[in-house]
Amino acid sequence: MRGLFFTCEGVEGSGKTTQLRRLAASLRHAGQPVMETREPGGTSLGEAIRSMLLMTRDQEMAAEAELFLYLASRAQLSRECIRPSLEAGIIVVCDRFADATVAYQGHGRGLDLRRIATMNRVATGGLTPDLTILLDLDPREGLRRVKARGQVSLPEPFLDRLESEALEFHDRVREGYLHLAREEPHRFLVVDATRQEETIAGEIWQRVEPLIGSWAVQGERR
Ligand SMILES: Nc1ncnc2c1ncn2[C@@H]1O[C@H](COP(=O)(O)OP(=O)(O)OP(=O)(O)O)[C@@H](O)[C@H]1O
Ligand SMILES: [Mg+2]
Repeated sequence: MRGLFFTCEGVEGSGKTTQLRRLAASLRHAGQPVMETREPGGTSLGEAIRSMLLMTRDQEMAAEAELFLYLASRAQLSRECIRPSLEAGIIVVCDRFADATVAYQGHGRGLDLRRIATMNRVATGGLTPDLTILLDLDPREGLRRVKARGQVSLPEPFLDRLESEALEFHDRVREGYLHLAREEPHRFLVVDATRQEETIAGEIWQRVEPLIGSWAVQGERR
């Protein structure tokens, strides 16, 4: 495949969308063709699944049902969007991908990790990112940022109760991501997300720029 595939992962509010926008802008500034997408979503089927997942967020959803919804969105995105873009020589940057299912449904919800790995391979058709940026942050700080961002509409006492229950879950998600990064150190760039936006963006660019360089050289040889 001719393109490059970058993904961004991390707990809620860790700065994924912020950093991916910056990365895409830097890539475009460097004259590279970029396609930005996200999970769940990125296709019309995926966006419909995304709203189903958000709609039922505070209701009961079986962990297995949730797993299949994420996988369905991923299967569609991989085939309709990511693979064709990579084949056309485009750099794809994706806000969350298969690692999120390992972290959330596996480490967070406790579903079988090996089974998730197999299902991820089916969903993606074997697509693996060239680089995964992991924004590592205490979920408490992530939640504080999300609240400050002002997209939460629940009344405070209700939110606080949900949060304390949810924090242990998000701690497991964070550890799950770090575990993945230790298993595949060459694919992951783990970034301390407590720092300033600009500092983080600089560290990401330091890792990405040489990748773009060697990628462009290989492209010329072809
Ligand atoms: N390094 C940073 N330091 C402090 N605040 C930040 C930093 N990066 C992003 N923020 C702010 O934190 C909030 C969450 O950032 P952002 O939306 O990028 O996170 P996210 O990981 O995409 O969140 P979500 O999981 O909800 O999609 C935003 O208001 C953003 O402006
Ligand atoms: Mg985001």
